[in-house]
Amino acid sequence: MHVPTTTLRTLDDLGDVAGRRVLVRVDFNVPLDDEGAVADDTRIRLAIPTLRALRERGARLLLVSHLGRPKGPDPRWSLGPIAAHLAALLGEEVVLAPSLDEIPAGDLVMLENIRFEPGETQNDPALAARLGALADAYVNDAFGSAHRAHASTEGIVHHVDRSVAGLLFEREVRTLDRLLDEPERPLVAVLGGAKAADKIGVINRFLEIADTVLLGGGMSYPFFAVQGKRIGRSLCDEAGLEAAREVLARVGTGDRLHLPVDLVVADAFSEDAHLQVSDPIDIDDAWEAIDIGPRTRELYAGIIRDAGTVFWNGPVGAFEIEPFAAGTHAIAHAVAETGAITVVGGGDSGAALTRFGLQDSVTHLSTGGGAALELIEGRVLPGVAALTG
Ligand code: 3PG
Ligand code: MG
Repeated sequence: MHVPTTTLRTLDDLGDVAGRRVLVRVDFNVPLDDEGAVADDTRIRLAIPTLRALRERGARLLLVSHLGRPKGPDPRWSLGPIAAHLAALLGEEVVLAPSLDEIPAGDLVMLENIRFEPGETQNDPALAARLGALADAYVNDAFGSAHRAHASTEGIVHHVDRSVAGLLFEREVRTLDRLLDEPERPLVAVLGGAKAADKIGVINRFLEIADTVLLGGGMSYPFFAVQGKRIGRSLCDEAGLEAAREVLARVGTGDRLHLPVDLVVADAFSEDAHLQVSDPIDIDDAWEAIDIGPRTRELYAGIIRDAGTVFWNGPVGAFEIEPFAAGTHAIAHAVAETGAITVVGGGDSGAALTRFGLQDSVTHLSTGGGAALELIEGRVLPGVAALTG
């Protein structure tokens, strides 16, 4: 989506909010641990500059977020732990409002999970109007939810006088637009993850605009099957084969698209599996690919080192299992250490960076997995469109 970002309304366009109530849509849909506490607070921390900027301007804030995909009110998906976590980060009290009917006074109020309201995901105009009536102005800092046309991400803008993007949302959109429109070259896209079919739009877009596309992870295995190589028990389904055929037909065997030249294979999907390197790629029936091999690690790291801009989305192996993490670890380090501008899509690649302690070593770590990918594919994001023009 080529959003002329000059037309994205931002905090500069908000006007005076001193003493006014501003409804701030944040994306605090964060992972919780077994005790129900916040396991990764990246999305919360990155929203704080917007909250502080608004508080410094004297606004009273009503924060709205979803968590998970509850079907209605459900205490397991309460924002209670998230309000507590935010309060600790800010050193300020955050009051949790149990429902839209009971919004307490206060400078920093967080509404309970907006998905407890059935109208939220249906973008129900009545709910959007209720939300709008609670606020003098609307700030959307939930880039991670910008691909959803929901009442709190899209509908509400039709029911408030002023609606703008927050600082995080603005930075996300500008960074991705710059990557698509005027990247430092060469532009290198590193695309991993489990399924080729899920990423086909993104692969195609980067085949148009990038200088080099490096594939890895489960989504690369169908490509080898299409090339007539034996892939054993490696991840591969009909949709993946179809996607691989489409991409290969498009690019032929040019040097813009790189597939792994070797793979690590395992005889079981577990910590204590036996491992081998398949080079050249030719995998026996009892084995399955679980990571890129050492020659691929070196090849990809070299291309990343020489890039002007790198976009990375998706792990290149099953990195959550320690012996299968070497490939993703090598990619994460190459991305962190290159002199290029580096943009990392959220989701699993963000989790990988964080796990290796490299989350602060990239130019931009997106808080939007799905939203970033849809923007790259060229889709109109309802949350962005609502704040544009
Ligand atoms: C996400 O984490 O993908 C966003 O918060 C959106 O959540 P959703 O996929 O449940 O709409
Ligand atoms: Mg999602």
